[in-house]
Amino acid sequence: MRILVTGGSGYIGSHTTLQLIAAGHEVVIADNFSRSKLSVLGRLESLSGASIKHHVIDLTDQEATDRLFAQGAFEAVIHFAGLKAVGESVAMPLEYYSNNLGLTLSVLTAMRTHGVKKLVFSSSATVYGEHAQVPMQEPFPTSANNPYGWTKVMQEQMLRDVGVADPSMRIALLRYFNPVGAHKSGMIGEDPQGVPNNLMPLLAQIAVGRREFLSVYGKDYPTPDGTARRDYLHVEDLAAGHVAALNRLGETQEPVSTWNLGTGTPTSVLEMVSAFAAASGREIPTVDAPRRPGDIADSFADPAKAQAELGWVAARTIDDMCADTWRWQSQNPDGFPEA
Ligand code: WQD
Repeated sequence: MRILVTGGSGYIGSHTTLQLIAAGHEVVIADNFSRSKLSVLGRLESLSGASIKHHVIDLTDQEATDRLFAQGAFEAVIHFAGLKAVGESVAMPLEYYSNNLGLTLSVLTAMRTHGVKKLVFSSSATVYGEHAQVPMQEPFPTSANNPYGWTKVMQEQMLRDVGVADPSMRIALLRYFNPVGAHKSGMIGEDPQGVPNNLMPLLAQIAVGRREFLSVYGKDYPTPDGTARRDYLHVEDLAAGHVAALNRLGETQEPVSTWNLGTGTPTSVLEMVSAFAAASGREIPTVDAPRRPGDIADSFADPAKAQAELGWVAARTIDDMCADTWRWQSQNPDGFPEA
């Protein structure tokens, strides 16, 4: 199929683009490149052996988006584009709501105008909110405790409402747990601009010498070692989940389906620190720090639905995730080149 991948130059979008091409699809990337570098495209083309058409575009611009769809002949959309830094969203709620909701309204409107029925949406385990039981299951209620999380909750609601209004739509809501790792080649990986918020890029930057130490946010959680636990999954497994969801949209009778993409296994901060030290062979100095507001003790998936309905299982281990992250970061100490 001819697939529009919005945000396709980003961390998860780039890894998914490679797997879509490997599965025989034709990919067109639309991105404003506000949080990524154009140099990703050349790496994707050399890794995939395919030429990848891309558009530098602000998808909140409805007219530009409509023109893109008018000439695109897209058969499906995988929608990654959006801002995703929790802390930043607390400081800049208006930018988060207007950008993330605006993008999705604009893409959905263009899909309706041009009769595109298949959409895979990049959602997040963050929609389970602060008080969810673990393991998290898809029927659980959704909520958030920061504007970024609310934009995911609201976008899911928009998509469910579209599925009611037009039952011929086929929409997959994919709730990612904690994506980490990198393509085996080490040529692409996570390259956060500025100070990373997430644990794994911080560990990688400490190991490669760009940062001094890790502040461990809280050692008084009700977990075996006192640090918070998350369901880290390899970005290559996550990308494979998108290909599986897209295939499933061709078979399901449901307008909207929701799937957790996680391993089902929790790993603590300290366990990840020692796994990364082992994978990189580098010391990871840590400093104890207070809990980060909004963080929860435990977040991990019940992955049974995706396994049963998509035939999808996250296969790669924590050691794979650390080894692949380290290969990317040690080969690209400063991330992607500018152009
Ligand atoms: C993981 C663990 C921290 C940094 C967030 C978003 C979620 C998704 C993934 C977009 C936590 C601890 C971290 C540090 C630390 N993003 N930590 N010191 O918070 O589970 O999820 O990113 O979709 O929406 O909420 O991931 O990587 O930020 O933190 O101790 O310097 O590492 O407290 O327990 P999180 P994270």
